[in-house]
Amino acid sequence: MAKLKPDLVFCNLSRRNPDIKSFGERLNHLACDLSQPTEVALVARNVEAFLERRVPAGRILLINNSGFGTMGPFPEADLAKQVEMIDLNVRAVVHLTGLLLPLLLRRGGAIMNVASTAAFQPTPTMATYGATKAFVLHWSHALNYELRHSGVRALAVCPGTTRTEFFRIAGLKTGNRADALAMSPEEVVMSSLRALGAGRSQVVTGWKNKLAAFASSPVPKSLATRVAGTVLAGYRRLQARS
Ligand SMILES: NC(=O)c1ccc[n+]([C@@H]2O[C@H](COP(=O)([O-])OP(=O)(O)OC[C@H]3O[C@@H](n4cnc5c(N)ncnc54)[C@H](OP(=O)(O)O)[C@@H]3O)[C@@H](O)[C@H]2O)c1
Repeated sequence: MAKLKPDLVFCNLSRRNPDIKSFGERLNHLACDLSQPTEVALVARNVEAFLERRVPAGRILLINNSGFGTMGPFPEADLAKQVEMIDLNVRAVVHLTGLLLPLLLRRGGAIMNVASTAAFQPTPTMATYGATKAFVLHWSHALNYELRHSGVRALAVCPGTTRTEFFRIAGLKTGNRADALAMSPEEVVMSSLRALGAGRSQVVTGWKNKLAAFASSPVPKSLATRVAGTVLAGYRRLQARS
């Protein structure tokens, strides 16, 4: 995005400073733990103050991207982690969007919510994660409809496996055969921006992921659950071997 539009100003909301030198002054880090409701409320005020000071006019793109998953039968690895996942993947998305929506409505712009292909079917061994992403997918579609005459749009981004820190943080090994199917973050971003430009409300990135999402949509949920359970069990076996 920085390469495509040199005049964009970025505000990063996460715990660690991404510290990307090439962005210089254009990247502003507002440290926060979005799984904590009080920190979401505080950082939303800080975003508003920052925009008023540095970029008082122009459209805003809010990207709700922060999230994590775990793999294993519920409630492994531990129940507190499952609840934290809901706080970050679901509650923070709703909370932050709700707090910043008046600003977006005043200035125009868009909301990009990062869901996943895990949103399209129940995901045994990633039960909570898949359910958080199903929420994000449905919520984004409904929000986009509600906002249709407002000058603000919402887009649900549904990537499949992508080469990021996600798997390491989920406690999984990387470098196995399943990684060959993974997309790069750049490919996911380009596909998402094209979908935003085309005015779509949902994008599944990459043709293999599109095929998988399409295949799981018309089948009964019980069958989709068995298929996803078998695929994810295969993935866990690969993990155990590598
Ligand atoms: N990678 C995949 O295969 C894949 C596939 C489908 C969907 N997704 C989704 O894509 C999104 C981005 O994940 P990623 O793949 O880029 O994984 P990642 O490399 O682990 O990045 C996760 C991001 O979330 C932030 N984050 C985590 N916990 C946070 C917290 N408590 N408060 C604020 N920020 C927090 C992290 O920053 P800090 O650690 O600095 O806080 C980091 O910027 C997630 O929503 C994920 O579910 C990923």
